[in-house]
Parts: sequence; structure tokens; C-alpha cells
Amino acid sequence: MSLARLLLLVLPLLSFFLLRPASAILCHPEDKEVLLCIKFSLDSPYLLPSWDPDTDCCYWYGLKCHRKTHRLSNFTGPIPESFTKLKYLNFLRLSWLNLTGPIPSFLGQLKNLTYLNLSFNKLTGSIPDSLSTIPGLGYKNSNNNLYLILSHNSLSGELPASFVGVDFGKLDLSRNRLQGDASLVFGRNKSTYYIDISRNQFEFDLSKVDFNESLTTLDMNHNKIYGSISKAVAGLELQFLNVSYNRLCGEIPVGGRLQSFDYTAYFHNRCFCGAPLDS
Ligand SMILES: *[C@@H]1O[C@H](CO)[C@@H](O)[C@H](O)[C@H]1NC(C)=O
Ligand SMILES: *[C@@H]1O[C@H](CO)[C@@H](O)[C@H](O)[C@H]1NC(C)=O
Ligand SMILES: *[C@@H]1O[C@H](CO)[C@@H](O)[C@H](O)[C@H]1NC(C)=O
Ligand SMILES: *[C@@H]1O[C@H](CO)[C@@H](O)[C@H](O)[C@H]1NC(C)=O
Ligand SMILES: *[C@@H]1O[C@H](CO)[C@@H](O)[C@H](O)[C@H]1NC(C)=O
Ligand SMILES: *[C@@H]1O[C@H](CO)[C@@H](O)[C@H](O)[C@H]1NC(C)=O
Ligand SMILES: *[C@@H]1O[C@H](CO)[C@@H](O)[C@H](O)[C@H]1NC(C)=O
Repeated sequence: MSLARLLLLVLPLLSFFLLRPASAILCHPEDKEVLLCIKFSLDSPYLLPSWDPDTDCCYWYGLKCHRKTHRLSNFTGPIPESFTKLKYLNFLRLSWLNLTGPIPSFLGQLKNLTYLNLSFNKLTGSIPDSLSTIPGLGYKNSNNNLYLILSHNSLSGELPASFVGVDFGKLDLSRNRLQGDASLVFGRNKSTYYIDISRNQFEFDLSKVDFNESLTTLDMNHNKIYGSISKAVAGLELQFLNVSYNRLCGEIPVGGRLQSFDYTAYFHNRCFCGAPLDS
């Protein structure tokens, strides 16, 4: 892999340094060390002469520090294990990179992560259980908006059962080949506000799902979800709902925002009825 093809967007946790004047060095020393290791392990250090150990890594070529952001460019292939050394990383976006292979379970070692976006790649295999061990990605009592975005890949298999204990802020698993029960991402006690599991092969009984009032966006179109919409859904302050192209039945409960959505939010189900559907 040549350095010219390196593309990643990383955001190390730099809160310690944020409290300092703008002129202070922004680069976290441990992250800088890892970036230098990545540079040398790629065997083409001359490509990035600006990655000078004596300077602040926020000013290195291909890296941009916007508050806490580092940006590199052009990177394909599997996700390298060297990432696990970026201990203070709290934001990782590796999108549109044609990344292949599975989501490595070693990402679970990034304990400071609060945002993981691997969308628009060619990742395969199932979602590793280890992601649920990242405290910031969802365990309860966390105050952040915590994001897991794995949309537009070729992920398959069932969701890790341990996701039942994870309280995501925003979860986007859309456009994969995931199957089985996705009801475990919901829960009465979860503060998740955004769930997009559309365009997968999930198969579960929607009537049995417990919702929390935090949920404002729910997109589940194109799955194999059965059962009906419970009255509890009418009590949610939903801004977006799409349950089309599933196997739902029964009457759409009257109330809340449920009648304000276009009929296309509900169409192509097995035996759904009630407004805004015709029959
Ligand atoms: C990224 O790849 C594109 C296409 O291969 C190339 O034109 C561009 O110069 C590369 N950018 C960097 C920073 O290497
Ligand atoms: C994830 O990354 C994609 C591609 O860079 C971007 O369009 C999308 O907005 C990101 N999602 C979130 C929730 O940040
Ligand atoms: C990803 O693959 C597509 C199709 O093979 C190609 O057109 C595109 O340039 C690749 N993108 C990157 C960032 O390598
Ligand atoms: C970040 O990681 C360090 C080292 O693993 C740990 O001591 C610290 O508590 C973590 N901080 C957060 C906010 O998770
Ligand atoms: C919704 O979740 C929040 C956060 O976990 C919790 O405080 C609240 O009690 C839940 N609401 C209900 C009705 O259980
Ligand atoms: C929700 O939280 C309450 C109070 O903390 C607890 O008693 C209850 O068992 C929890 N319910 C679920 C489904 O986790
Ligand atoms: C719901 O999703 C289907 C399938 O993608 C789409 O055709 C329809 O326009 C969507 N409707 C709404 C209200 O989002």
C-alpha cells in the first residue's frame, strides 16, 4: 500500500489540549508516535516529508486539525491493526475507501471511540461483538451522542447479541445484508434517537419491540419485518418513519404523527390498513 493511497479521517481525543491557547501544540504525543509508525511501516517515508517528528502533526501533509480532527487521504484494502495504537482516538471515519475484508474485532480496543463511520465501503462478514465493548459507543449513562455508522457495505449475519446492552445515539446499518433479529437495538431504556436498518434482511416481530420516547427517526424499509405497529409508536415524537416493503399487517394506530407521513412510508406490506393507506 503506497502512502499516496492512504486516506483516513481520524480524530484523537485532545480535550486536554483544547483547554490550552490556540497556539499550543494540538497533536497528541501518543497519536503522533503512531502516525509516525504508520508512515515508516509503509516503507515510503519520502512521500510525506512534512510528517516531521519535530513539528505539530496537525500541520502535516494530508492531516487537518479542525478542533480535534486529523485528515489523511487515500487508503484502500483492509483496516490496518496499527489503528488500535491510536488510544486517544474518539472519532474514526473511513468512508468511500473501498475498504475490504471484515470489520476487524480489534477496533473494540479503541476505548475512547464515540464515533465510528465505516460507510460506503466493501466490508463483508458480520459485525464483531467487540464493538459493544467500546464504552463510548453506547453504554448507558453516557452523555454524548454516540454514533455507529456501517451503512452501504456488504455486511452479513446476525447482529451481536451484546448490542442489547448498548445504547447508541445514532445507529445506521442500512444497505447491507444483515439478517435475523434487529429488535435488540431498540429498548424501553435506550436513548437512541436515530435508527436506520433499511435495506437488509432483518426478520422480527415489530409488535414485540419496546420503544423509548427518544426515538425520532426510524427507517426500516426493505426488510422482512412482520407483526404490526403497536399503539406505543403513536406516542413517539417521530420526525421520520418508513416501514415500507416489509411483511407487516394490521391497522396503523391512529395518533401522534403516524397519519402525517406519506402513504409510501407504509406501502408494500402484507396486510396493512388504515390511514394514510387507502384500504
Ligand atoms: C488520492 O488519489 C487520487 C486518485 O488516485 C489522486 O489523484 C490524489 O492525488 C490522491 N491524493 C493524495 C493526497 O495522495
Ligand atoms: C458517515 O460518512 C458518510 C461519508 O463520508 C457521510 O456522508 C455521513 O454523513 C456520515 N454519517 C454521519 C452520521 O456522520
Ligand atoms: C473504488 O472502486 C471503484 C470501482 O472499482 C473505483 O471506481 C473507485 O475509484 C475506487 N475508489 C477508491 C477511493 O479507491
Ligand atoms: C481514553 O483512553 C485512556 C487510555 O486508554 C483512558 O485512560 C481514558 O479514561 C479514556 N477516556 C475516555 C473519555 O474514555
Ligand atoms: C427512555 O430512556 C431514558 C434514557 O435511558 C430513560 O431515562 C427513560 O426513563 C426512558 N423512558 C421510558 C418511558 O422508559
Ligand atoms: C429500565 O430501567 C429500570 C430502572 O432503571 C429498570 O427497573 C428496568 O428493568 C429497565 N428495563 C429494561 C428493559 O432494561
Ligand atoms: C419509504 O421508502 C420507500 C423505499 O425506499 C420509498 O419508495 C418511499 O418513498 C419512502 N417513503 C417515505 C415517506 O420516506
